[in-house]
Amino acid sequence: MDVTATLSLGDPLEPARKATAQMLQERERTFSLPQPFYSDERLFDIDMQEIFQKEWLIAGMTCEIPTKGNYITLQIGKNPIIVIRGADGVVHAFHNVCRHRGSRLCTSDKGKVAKLVCHYHQWTYELDGRLLFAGTEMGADFDMKQYGLKPVNVKTAGGYIFVSLAENPPAIDDFLSTLSHYMEPYDMENTKVAITTTLFEKANWKLVLENNRECYHCNA
Ligand code: FES
Repeated sequence: MDVTATLSLGDPLEPARKATAQMLQERERTFSLPQPFYSDERLFDIDMQEIFQKEWLIAGMTCEIPTKGNYITLQIGKNPIIVIRGADGVVHAFHNVCRHRGSRLCTSDKGKVAKLVCHYHQWTYELDGRLLFAGTEMGADFDMKQYGLKPVNVKTAGGYIFVSLAENPPAIDDFLSTLSHYMEPYDMENTKVAITTTLFEKANWKLVLENNRECYHCNA
């Protein structure tokens, strides 16, 4: 493969980005967005890059990982994520991808581990992401410090866990302190999840949000 040629291809979504910007400028305010925002796969890919891979998202509740080694996994677009309680009680988040050959580390929705051990060649990571064991085949020069798990931004407040895949995530601390204030009476750290329901909507995510924001349909 000619890697140079591949790298020079640029952003394949660039034409769609320009069309999106133009449609947003020309759209009629107070109306639904133009149809491609709900149906075009390229616009969906832009949504994933610009919103879901940059904004803070709720990953779960702290009560779901109450003690060290408890973890939950989630998928954000093409990115598998693990959220885990460290030995120090701190909540960490990582890409759920082994630094050796990219194998998925945790394959369950949730669980509890003493260490994070890759099933493929048994690279072993501490709960804070540090690489502890990589076998003897890596050679004397292999620097384990360089191969810890790739971290994901994570913050907790009011019992909620938020993650962001952005390199520089948007500011959220003011919101988190307000959230903590209002959630304090509920002692969310000491609650339990009673029921989980997963709803798959066969529609673009914006339709789901818009439906949630308007209530013309509620009486019916
Ligand atoms: S891919 Fe994980 S140890 Fe090799």
